[in-house]
Amino acid sequence: MKIINVVGARPNFMKMAPLVHELNRRGIEQMLVHTGQHYDDNMSKVFFDDLRMPAPDVYLGIGSGSHSEQTAKVMVEFEKVCLEHKPDLVVVVGDVNSTLACSIVAAKLWIAVAHVEAGLRSFDMKMPEEVNRIVTDRLTDLLLTPSPDGDENLRKEGVAEERIHRVGNIMIDSLFANVERAKDSKILDELGLAPKGYGVLTLHRPSNVDDPEILLKLMTVLHEISERLPLVFSCHPRTAQRLEDLEAYARLKDRGDLRILPPKGYLDFMRLVSQSRLVLTDSGGLQEETTALRIPCVTIRENTERPITITEGSNTLAGTNPDKIRAAAYAALDGDQKDTSVPDLWDGKTAHRIVNVFESWWAAR
Ligand code: UD1
Ligand code: UDP
Repeated sequence: MKIINVVGARPNFMKMAPLVHELNRRGIEQMLVHTGQHYDDNMSKVFFDDLRMPAPDVYLGIGSGSHSEQTAKVMVEFEKVCLEHKPDLVVVVGDVNSTLACSIVAAKLWIAVAHVEAGLRSFDMKMPEEVNRIVTDRLTDLLLTPSPDGDENLRKEGVAEERIHRVGNIMIDSLFANVERAKDSKILDELGLAPKGYGVLTLHRPSNVDDPEILLKLMTVLHEISERLPLVFSCHPRTAQRLEDLEAYARLKDRGDLRILPPKGYLDFMRLVSQSRLVLTDSGGLQEETTALRIPCVTIRENTERPITITEGSNTLAGTNPDKIRAAAYAALDGDQKDTSVPDLWDGKTAHRIVNVFESWWAAR
């Protein structure tokens, strides 16, 4: 069995690393292809170092562009890789444009596709990720889901039961494998932060940051919250650009204690999150990591494709109304915390289960 693993953007790296390590342990032939959708050192290279992943065998160097440009460029280049290396299985993770592009290429070349994180749905077709998830899952042979809601969504879409494999959450493999190593990070000292004395903020969804009015409204309430709890904002390059363009933000900047920082490496960031009092975010992955770490999370979105982080975990879906965001943050700070649990199979052994699925599939062919 020859496998090509695909990564492209920041949230892919922590989902792929455990799988690369497990395939290696079992001596299965694999290649790592990096599309280059994310390319800054702090959005890409640092994760290879932190997660001890081998350098990619092939780097496509696609870079930024419109959705169609980016997707099409990945398709053209990835097709060449597949024709040259003739894999038996292409493994894609998550819901970014690289995930979609590579599944289309593989499906049209009759190469089997495995999708790690299959079945998640926000039911919001205005999210580019929702389009990517639905199309990818339609083309996938091995649908590897993190939670029962994923299985249920796929069944409702008519996916045959034998193609659905609930394996758990692979992000949590990376988290559990590295949470001890992250204790060596000096980030708290560097930033002068005390455990539980600050909150972590991330914001990068186009619906939150691309419209100047919405971005200003959100930043206003976040600065207000930072008067009660200092916030460190790991700022995605998309958002950094939008804030730079937003003149009105200059007048707001000094209110409270909200520090804008460049994106952090995995170990530093996990250290920051694990010691924080509260996380405010629109990230997909962070909703899961905070659930596994039992850190209160306020999600600044109208919907989530990860409902189990609310029903079982520490996540609250606040929406994008400032009053609701403020209320959710203050409730968490006032200790208004519900009982939480870590979902079934979010146990650090997901990569092991995934490779078992691959081996059974290969043996049954
Ligand atoms: C992408 C994913 C999103 C994911 C996010 C994680 C899609 C459709 N979106 O969004 O699902 O949550 O990654 O971080 O695939 N940029 C840089 N340096 C980089 C990468 C990007 O400066 O290394 C800037 C560029 O100006 C670029 C912009 O960020 O145009 C957006 O990058 P892009 O990959 O298109 O989308 P993300 O917003 O990062
Ligand atoms: N992350 C990180 N450093 C940062 C911000 C995020 O290491 O400064 C990690 C973190 O593990 C998070 C993951 O990157 O879960 C995914 O991030 P992102 O929010 O970019 O993508 P999403 O999960 O929303 O697709």
